[in-house]
Amino acid sequence: MELNKAIKARIWIILLLSILTACSREPIIPAEPVMQDGVWTGTGEGRSGTILVRITVLEHRITDIVVVSQSESSFAQEAINGMVARALEKQAVLTDVDAISGATLTSGGMIAAINMAIRSALGQGDSGKTAYQDGSCDVVIVGAGGAGLTAAVQAASGGNLHVVVLEKQGILGGNTNYSTGGINAAGTQAQQELGIQDNPDLFYEDTMKGGQEKNIPALVRSLVDHAAATITWLSSLGADLSDVGLMGGSSVRRTHRPKGGTAIGPHLMKVLKEASSQPNIEIRTSNKVTGLISEAGAVKGVKVENADGSTYRLYAKAVVIASGGFGANLEMVTRYQPSLSGFATLNHPGATGDAFSWLADVGGSTIQMEYIQIHPTAEADNHILITEAVRGNGAILVNCAGNRFVNEMETRDIVSAAILDQENAEAWIVFDQSVRSSLSSIETYANQHLLTEGKDLEALASKAGLPASAFCATMERYAAFQKAGIDEDFGRSSTQMTSLLQMPPFYAIRVKPAIHHTMGGIRVDADMHVLRSDGTPVPGLFAAGEVTGGVHGANRLGGNGVADIVVNGKIAGQNAAGYAK
Ligand code: FUM
Repeated sequence: MELNKAIKARIWIILLLSILTACSREPIIPAEPVMQDGVWTGTGEGRSGTILVRITVLEHRITDIVVVSQSESSFAQEAINGMVARALEKQAVLTDVDAISGATLTSGGMIAAINMAIRSALGQGDSGKTAYQDGSCDVVIVGAGGAGLTAAVQAASGGNLHVVVLEKQGILGGNTNYSTGGINAAGTQAQQELGIQDNPDLFYEDTMKGGQEKNIPALVRSLVDHAAATITWLSSLGADLSDVGLMGGSSVRRTHRPKGGTAIGPHLMKVLKEASSQPNIEIRTSNKVTGLISEAGAVKGVKVENADGSTYRLYAKAVVIASGGFGANLEMVTRYQPSLSGFATLNHPGATGDAFSWLADVGGSTIQMEYIQIHPTAEADNHILITEAVRGNGAILVNCAGNRFVNEMETRDIVSAAILDQENAEAWIVFDQSVRSSLSSIETYANQHLLTEGKDLEALASKAGLPASAFCATMERYAAFQKAGIDEDFGRSSTQMTSLLQMPPFYAIRVKPAIHHTMGGIRVDADMHVLRSDGTPVPGLFAAGEVTGGVHGANRLGGNGVADIVVNGKIAGQNAAGYAK
């Protein structure tokens, strides 16, 4: 009897609840996950290595964030503090939009570290990342830097292929994030509008000469012939490449960059990220390719390691390797070029050349691995690239004695060698307010506290520790050369002496050459097929960007790196898509 009563009561409650639910017009909203109280940690890759953070969550709010370890340079401290403040204010995972301008990589590392900790607090696993399982797609791109995303956008442009981009770092961009100078192209609309006479043949000659004629001619021909159309393509995606500057070894101004001389890399990545945000392209970060899958000599996919260390296989009809160079792998650099032992690197931490450990498994070969470029002007203490565009817009170099010692607009191999011959193997790059006003990139250096400033030349000499009389005499002599249009000392041409360098205040940055670009790499043909040592292509395998070798020869011209990643990323994407179809 009692049992019947209880059952009846239950039935009534269920009926009542059903009626109430049916009457309700409110949608059923799943509860938002909340952060669980406790201490959570996360890691991310910054500019100079791993950043480890610890967050404390109390009553479901972040109450404290501690950066447990990091090796970012001193200027990046502001970015680290800024990201901590943003996370405390936002109380949720951060996005690219939260990044601090001028410190993209440190910000990216901090975002990745803080987000990993927040996701753990939300119960979304150690890394908050999906652990992918075996699967398939049409085209796999290895690497989400400039070359990889260009290849992805191009491969997906037909609308019917599923493209997966695998990036081992937590953030997109690779070395493209660091790129400043611009992208070279000849015969563009921007050049025409600025009255610059140029053509692909002159571009070809400069590139071959700059590369000490060691470049593979077919690769250079393809680069120079496709570059102008690539500028048009990037512009159609929303890029601003309206400013055209001068870089060492170029006969004319052909380095395209955003208005005001803003750094090309972050702008290019923004454009490519937007273009990649489409249903056909899937980007998986913290997914490291550890090998290729092949069948009967043809590449059929890649082996991948998830963020949590588990592994999977991604089968594909075509694979594009766009994983960048090995300029951050100092063991590899010195193995191929022992003379670079002890040099600092300008490369992002992920530029470790992983592809070279599995390329040979499918018969892929390499070329000119010993050609590794040092950039003459890396800021001496923090190893930050001071773009060649500063010299292109008028700056000079002086040594510790306050004297010039080289034509500053020579190719990088020559300028670097000249600096290495000076006392302490260092120099000062010197410019005035007119140069600073002409190039927005310099504002980034100012924000990074890299500029030594003097209200006049004597004050600058005193702050930089240069002998004032010799330094002032050098500046006076240079101004006379600039006015006359003839550099009697080092032969800098009149078109390369764009500033009198007499408008106060004056600025200087101490610089030392540092490892910049690995010019050798995977052997490819002009269609970006990966080649075996006998010159035949490995079916299904393509490559583009700094991971490839041969286009730059023994010395790359400034602005040709970005041209290479976009021109050849596009060719690789197009041909991989054609093969997949
Ligand atoms: O100096 C620079 O801005 C470097 C450019 C490049 O390597 O292409």
